[in-house]
Amino acid sequence: MGDVELYRKTYAPLMMPVITVPGPDCFEREAGETCADVARRQFELMEVALAEHAHETCAVIVEPLVQCAGGMRIYDAEYLRLLRAACDRHGVHLIADEIAVGFGRTGTMFACEQGPISPDFLCLSKGLTGGYLPLAVVLTTDEVYDAFYDDYEKLNAFLHSHSYTGNPLACRAALATLDIFDREPVLERNRELARHMARALAPLEDHPHVAEVRQTGMIAGGAGPGEALAQALSLAGATRRAQPGGVVVDLQCLRATFETGLWPVHGSQGLVTAADLQGYPVNTFRVAH
Ligand SMILES: Cc1ncc(COP(=O)(O)O)c(C=O)c1O
Repeated sequence: MGDVELYRKTYAPLMMPVITVPGPDCFEREAGETCADVARRQFELMEVALAEHAHETCAVIVEPLVQCAGGMRIYDAEYLRLLRAACDRHGVHLIADEIAVGFGRTGTMFACEQGPISPDFLCLSKGLTGGYLPLAVVLTTDEVYDAFYDDYEKLNAFLHSHSYTGNPLACRAALATLDIFDREPVLERNRELARHMARALAPLEDHPHVAEVRQTGMIAGGAGPGEALAQALSLAGATRRAQPGGVVVDLQCLRATFETGLWPVHGSQGLVTAADLQGYPVNTFRVAH
């Protein structure tokens, strides 16, 4: 997960203490290192944290493959494999937050498949209803489910609900979205779109103000030295979003470099941001040829 001060500081007094571990962002690679090398190197820090804190840790939470809110930081699936094995070794649950990366966004239905790993808890939302209605689900293992399944009088049930839990309309939207995944080649289409995005982004790689163009499936971002990158992109007609330590331009820069463009069914005007895109139905994007 990202650990973004801007999001955290207001709520910090209300939150339980968590242990944060530096992530495996591939951007941090040193000369000669691959993304998998970075994952292995950075995992040592997770290993140390688990060795020290496993006895007081209920779970490790990760955003598989891309730390979205943390600045579109992309990392190698090797980290997920190491993490799954270490969580098993230490008896700590693994929670995969696929709220942003789930439902085809990274090229597979779920990012965890690229490990491949299976988390103990899988958090889903956004693409679940194609962004049309708010709905979130947490999937878990039979083992966890069974631990809470008992006669009502024993009060073993996991008592957590909202007024609109299982809202029928939202569930209907989710079922309709899942039907589309069954019926249409959504994942193939996403992979085609990802290839198109890669081609469209390629010219930016050589731009003097762009340190890195990164992409996993349909999630793409650019990183560079703050203002300089911003300037490069605004020259290209893109807008920007300030992030601590620089400027991260997510899919906005694509818009500026696409020859043909994308159009979400929502008819969004102007520049498309990654945040906007996360809520849109994955099946409604088409590449114009
Ligand atoms: C990875 C991730 N987790 C959690 C959330 C929060 O989800 P919700 O708005 O359903 O609480 C978001 C929202 O952007 C997200 O991107």
